[in-house]
Amino acid sequence: MIERKIDGRLGNETVDTYISEEKIQAKVAEMGARITRDYQGKDLVVIAVLRGAIVFAVDLVRHIDLPLVLDFVQISSYGNGTESTGRAKITRELDLSIKGKDVLVVEDIADTRHTLFNLLSFLRSKFPRSIRICSLLDKQERKQREIPLDYVGFTIENRFVIGYGLDYAQRFRNLPFVGILRYDDGEELK
Ligand code: IMP
Ligand code: MG
Repeated sequence: MIERKIDGRLGNETVDTYISEEKIQAKVAEMGARITRDYQGKDLVVIAVLRGAIVFAVDLVRHIDLPLVLDFVQISSYGNGTESTGRAKITRELDLSIKGKDVLVVEDIADTRHTLFNLLSFLRSKFPRSIRICSLLDKQERKQREIPLDYVGFTIENRFVIGYGLDYAQRFRNLPFVGILRYDDGEELK
């Protein structure tokens, strides 16, 4: 958990590229093609987890060449810090019914996996036919629960990343690449 607050002065922080826009776009296209093959003839509901997964989800669905519907859930897990808590609650419900449907959860990153664990039990209570998880990033080292990830873009080291939907204190989601935030003194977020 970082104690120091970003003060908003641009000179204080630098973003280093960690996964380039080109690499992300190539991977998203590849994942979309795989999902298209796997979901032939299924009744696909794509559920993006607000807010982090939104950027990934809107790119991904454009590479899924199948009829699908798109819905959103929000689950609270983080405050403004960088550490997940075990507890989580649904703060934005689904609009659509998923009963009997083939659900694909789209997440930005699987870290401790507490969020996914809680989300899965919420979704299972609505009786979908199947549930699979698609996460752009996987911080495997941080795993605290066994949650199978069906589609993973990149497995990454234990570093705090921002961009392409991922935030630090709600900022940086709009970066087209995944980066690492560093202060001018060289210190990075953990
Ligand atoms: P988990 O419950 O620990 O798996 O956390 C998952 C959520 O934490 C993700 O959906 C992200 O919103 C957030 N998160 C985890 N790691 C990072 C990171 O490195 N950068 C930004 N957000 C992160
Ligand atoms: Mg998230």
